[in-house]
Amino acid sequence: MTDVVSMDKIVALCKRRGLIFPASEIYGGIANTYDYGHYGVLLKNNVVNAWWKAMIQERDDIVALDSAIIQHPRTWEASGHLAGFSDPLVQCLGKCKRRFREDHLREEAEARGEDPEKLVCPVCGGELTEPRPFNLMFETTIGPVREEGSTVYLRPETAQGIFLDFKTTLGFARKKPPFGIAQIGKSFRNEITPGNFIFRTLEFEQMEMEFFVAPDEADKWHRHWMEQRMEWYVTLGVDRDKLRLRPHGADELSHYSSATSDIEYLFPIGWSELEGIANRGDFDLRQHAEYSGQKLEYVDTATGDRYVPHVIEPAAGLGRTVLTLLCDAYDEDEIGGERRTVLRLLPRMAPVKAAVLPLVNKDGQPEKARAIYEELRSRMTAEYDAGGSIGKRYRRQDEIGTPWGITVDHQTMEDDTVTLRDRDTLEQVRVPVSELADELASRLG
Ligand code: GLY
Repeated sequence: MTDVVSMDKIVALCKRRGLIFPASEIYGGIANTYDYGHYGVLLKNNVVNAWWKAMIQERDDIVALDSAIIQHPRTWEASGHLAGFSDPLVQCLGKCKRRFREDHLREEAEARGEDPEKLVCPVCGGELTEPRPFNLMFETTIGPVREEGSTVYLRPETAQGIFLDFKTTLGFARKKPPFGIAQIGKSFRNEITPGNFIFRTLEFEQMEMEFFVAPDEADKWHRHWMEQRMEWYVTLGVDRDKLRLRPHGADELSHYSSATSDIEYLFPIGWSELEGIANRGDFDLRQHAEYSGQKLEYVDTATGDRYVPHVIEPAAGLGRTVLTLLCDAYDEDEIGGERRTVLRLLPRMAPVKAAVLPLVNKDGQPEKARAIYEELRSRMTAEYDAGGSIGKRYRRQDEIGTPWGITVDHQTMEDDTVTLRDRDTLEQVRVPVSELADELASRLG
């Protein structure tokens, strides 16, 4: 499928079918910010549900959390983000005055076999400023005036809310290490050179889980989570051959990490990070203990043992997972001499499972189709569509990945059967209406 998919095609399909499109479009858009439309929301929700299922429903050692976006500003002093969460910014002194990340320009120069010490503006060839650190956190103010102590930050990672609530959660959850706290939520990064559609956006949703373990068990659990998380993407239908685990080099590690491996996917832009699995050690809990004056440790009441747990963190991007599913499922083929675009999503990940289509808009077929749709929608996401030629209606459903098309035709009115069309094989079988919902539910698994 690598031969047919490109980022431009994904962007065009998402716009055409209203899955994902630029935000603030009536004002000309705003940098690297996108909105999710109806089908995009349904697809994203399927990823969210699959993540919670793997974290919470199928395990009993993880609890859920939904912490605030704006936390006490000391959080970011303790976490190291205020001092160290920055990109090296250079600006063009020539014609275009654009800003770039110096580290990205260096990598690109090296890839082209050029000297990374002699960088020039990649747009207009102009001279560049010296690099200076640019903090990635978005700042805002609590209250109407900007005064000392009123500056707060939009969180750049959801993880810190979990560390702040470690002690409270430990009390409520009646858990002891090894145990995890999971959350999904928006994070914000004022990136200098974002791009590539929803791969890198200013605001983005993270699916993060902090797993607290005894210090001498950290390596074992790091391995456990690398394996688990790779498999999770395969259960979503992602091609295993396009997934790989890449350990970070020492120069890439975040300030809090002693070891990180990225799960990467072979996007049309090349191998890129989908999820980071970090061994954060006891860095965060120790920092917050020092800055808050609170004891953040685990005390085993039976043995009297006390220690600061170490943390293994699988941190996934929700938007990147959606993009992965779109790229992985994208395909084109030909039906009756006509080119078709189709998303071959696993049925359980598809935004809509079944589309109910009357063949003609008369003879009682629309009413019958609507009744079938109304029955189906209590079991799965379904759509009723009576508008346009049957071929066009199938194409629309193929493009959003709907696995099953159900057509009501003249025979339905006689024997109460419908045709059930498979998106991938295009095979059509007749199924009694009375068995349809059970048949689809069993295919859905
Ligand atoms: N918490 C890890 C990250 O935001 O990348």
